[in-house]
Amino acid sequence: MFMCRIFAAALAEGKVSPILKIGLKRLEYGGYDSAGMATINGDHLEIKKGVGKIDEVDKAVNFESLEGNVGIAHNRWATHGYPSVTNAHPIVDCTGNIAVVHNGVIENFLELKEDLIEKGHVFKSRTDTEVVAHLVEEELKEEKDFVNACLKAIKKVEGSYALAIIYSKEPDKIVLVKKESPLYLGIGKDGNFASSDPVAFVDKTNLMIPLEDYELAVITPYYYKIYSINTGNIITRKPTEINITPQMIEKGGFPHYMLKEIFEQPTSLYYAMNIQKPYLEAIAELMYRSKINFLVGAGTSYHSCLAASYMYSKLAGLATIPVVASEFIHQYGNTLDPDTSLLLVSQSGETADVLKVASFARMKASTVMAITNVVSSTITRLSRLYLVQQAGPEIGVAATKTYTSQLLIHLLLALEIGKKREKISEEEFKDYFAKIRSIPKIAESILKNTEQKVKEVAEILKDSSHIFYLGRGINTATAFEGRLKMLEIAYIPSSAFSAGESKHGPIALIEKNTPVIFVAPNDSSRRVILGNIMEIKSRGGKIITLGNSDDKELKEVSDIYIEMPESEDILTPILYVLPLQLLAYYTAVLRGLDPDKPRNLAKSVTVE
Ligand code: F6R
Repeated sequence: MFMCRIFAAALAEGKVSPILKIGLKRLEYGGYDSAGMATINGDHLEIKKGVGKIDEVDKAVNFESLEGNVGIAHNRWATHGYPSVTNAHPIVDCTGNIAVVHNGVIENFLELKEDLIEKGHVFKSRTDTEVVAHLVEEELKEEKDFVNACLKAIKKVEGSYALAIIYSKEPDKIVLVKKESPLYLGIGKDGNFASSDPVAFVDKTNLMIPLEDYELAVITPYYYKIYSINTGNIITRKPTEINITPQMIEKGGFPHYMLKEIFEQPTSLYYAMNIQKPYLEAIAELMYRSKINFLVGAGTSYHSCLAASYMYSKLAGLATIPVVASEFIHQYGNTLDPDTSLLLVSQSGETADVLKVASFARMKASTVMAITNVVSSTITRLSRLYLVQQAGPEIGVAATKTYTSQLLIHLLLALEIGKKREKISEEEFKDYFAKIRSIPKIAESILKNTEQKVKEVAEILKDSSHIFYLGRGINTATAFEGRLKMLEIAYIPSSAFSAGESKHGPIALIEKNTPVIFVAPNDSSRRVILGNIMEIKSRGGKIITLGNSDDKELKEVSDIYIEMPESEDILTPILYVLPLQLLAYYTAVLRGLDPDKPRNLAKSVTVE
């Protein structure tokens, strides 16, 4: 379960449940549709869990009634399956002696589940996590030591995980395992802790140890040990000091949710890449069979549709029509019929304009499908098929991580359709896939490498009266999205155009030092965009360019140059928007504005 958060604590004295509850509250930013806790009381487990925000669940179940000094806790933000008490963590094995909390996705859970069912295990939840509880149970039949059983069990698991596991027969121990999902140990005087985010235990200790991938740790009230999963050897690692103030706690160490969410993109992209394959294929199949395909969204989600129309064309030779949701019925309503498909894109799944299109299209017997970030949203009920982005909750009003994850999902769909339409070979498909796999890492390096430069640009732009964003081809959408971010949170009037359009009117507004931001990767439009830059430059505009790091020519003609890594043109909208998100953020901060709460805007617009 992505974007869930886990917390575990083993105390030398006293009840653990009140401490777990405080930790869960601090981790609530990571998810809030169900929560749960398990403690070891004597020789048995006690478990409380429920659906809703932590306070709501607590009111219903009273977490603090759990006895015992060792326990694990979880808050969940559903991605697979609706939030329910059964699917809420902790998840237990058949005996009820083992409990597990998990953040991540177990990719081979279906195979493991089949195998375990054959061995007689009975599954109760619809979570991927449950296989871990049964695997440990299975290993404990042969291997009497809990830690060894976990070491053996985890070797069978593929995917990503931060796991905390307890076993009532070895009541002092909590086993922690990490691969790809974050997990930190907190080393205290009166107990030891572990969490997806050190904010959970920051008031208990200022010493922490980040676990590395393929490591398993054991904490008890008195000691901790770290093992390599591959060799079983003990690893020695000294704790380091935590540098977090209580004020930073709820935003995971960032001053604003927006910045936190911008920096979460390497992770949210990773999860978008691992989206539910059967639904992806089914949507691709329906789009492939349809006579006409519309892509419909509002605001940022519309921009993802616009960029996507280039992807479907380039990779699948498929014409798609991107349309702004509020205009759809007027513009195309009369054309809908059963041979038409609509792919609706809405991070919240609650945008009224989009829902109206969904209901309208259903009446016309068209095929309604959706991409959304919220699993139980209205759009999922109106759609024949939907994909959940798994980007985790987006709290900042300006959409950031959900935009890039929408783009990546469109890309995967375009590749799938490209294969069906025989527009790309198996070889090319694999090649694209390899490139897509590298996106999270590239995104991470872009965020790191451009942040300082972007801050300098923000300083220059902060008092501008108007900013232009120009791009070409697929990055017309990037220009639109950069502009939307800037005007909605920094309130600087901004315009965006396909660069080719600039001389058909907008260029009249260019005066000396008017800032013009060019999105200019090294793709087929690079030559023409250079011409557009020259046109603006000769009229005195200040040229700020995002381009390839080794593009000397572009660098030379630009006043400010933000260096980007070389990448496949179809991937550039995902990567080039990152510095533009940062730019809007830092410009807003320099103007003394709160980027998380832009005036007049709501996170989800539920009125037409
Ligand atoms: C911009 C922004 C809005 C939303 C739009 C659609 O940063 O957040 O423009 O993109 O309101 O919202 P969803 O995707 O929830 O339908």
